[in-house]
Amino acid sequence: MPRVIFIDTDGTETEVQADVGKSVMEAAVENNVPGIDADCGGMCACATCHIIVEEAWFPVTGPRTDNEEAMLGFLPDLNERARLGCQIKLNEEMDGLTVRLPIGQF
Ligand code: FES
Repeated sequence: MPRVIFIDTDGTETEVQADVGKSVMEAAVENNVPGIDADCGGMCACATCHIIVEEAWFPVTGPRTDNEEAMLGFLPDLNERARLGCQIKLNEEMDGLTVRLPIGQF
C-alpha cells in the first residue's frame, strides 16, 4: 500500500497510506489532509486538489493530461511541477511519493 507524504506550507509533514488505484486527492481527503478541498470530486474541473510534486518524484507521476493542463492554466504563478492530485493514480512505484500543498489553498 503506497505511502504519500504531504508537506504543509509551514513544513509539517503528514504521511498517509492508500490503496493502489486511488488518487493522490483521494488519499488526502480520506485522511483529512488540510488544503485539499476537491470540490469537483475528482472530475478535473476545480483545481482545488492542486499540489506541487517534489522534484525527485515528478517523473514517477507521469505527464499531465490535456484537461489537467487546461485547469492548471487558470492558476497564478504556476509551478513547473504543479499537478492536480485527482489525476495521479497511485501505484506501488509511488511508495513514498512526496508532494507540497500550495499556499493559496489554506
Ligand atoms: S478534485 Fe477537482 S480538479 Fe481535482
